[in-house]
Amino acid sequence: LSADEANLVKSSWDHVKHNEADILYAVFKAYPDIQAKFPQFAGKDLESVKDTAAFATHATRIVSFFSEVIALSGEAANLSAVYNLVSKLGADHKARGVTAAQFGEFRTALVAYLQAHVSWGDNVAAAWNHALDNTYAVVLKAL
Ligand code: HEM
Repeated sequence: LSADEANLVKSSWDHVKHNEADILYAVFKAYPDIQAKFPQFAGKDLESVKDTAAFATHATRIVSFFSEVIALSGEAANLSAVYNLVSKLGADHKARGVTAAQFGEFRTALVAYLQAHVSWGDNVAAAWNHALDNTYAVVLKAL
């Protein structure tokens, strides 16, 4: 990512990064097959789990991963650290039977969430697209 793109991603992410449970709720709501992969939430009514402590904990883990990677992005010196984090994410999810199609669903839901909650101009959209393309190239290779 260029420094400009990284800044656009960072500043838009800052608006939503503390909406952890809300983001995971939006993902599960749009894609119940993703919820079904989580042992703690599989088969449960989303409305009844969304306000629980367990839901908040999982949401924070997932959303914090983005915060960690985004904080490192845009600097050449951090490229290999980012690569290693994302590659490990892919390997860990492969072990859980998560598919490339489900990662695609997750991306669609995340972008829809961002579109609805941050100011979403063409430049912001392009920066996120580039960031997610880069991230997903590494994740999908590990799956
Ligand atoms: C756990 C991040 C996509 C299913 C986790 C954890 C993180 C994470 C940080 C906890 C740490 C770990 O145990 O590895 C992400 C990110 C994603 C993503 C950043 C997208 C870019 C998905 C998708 C699925 C999924 C698409 C399922 C279809 C799971 C499951 C767990 C998990 C089942 C384990 C939950 C448990 O401990 O009970 N994810 N994830 N993830 N993720 Fe993801």
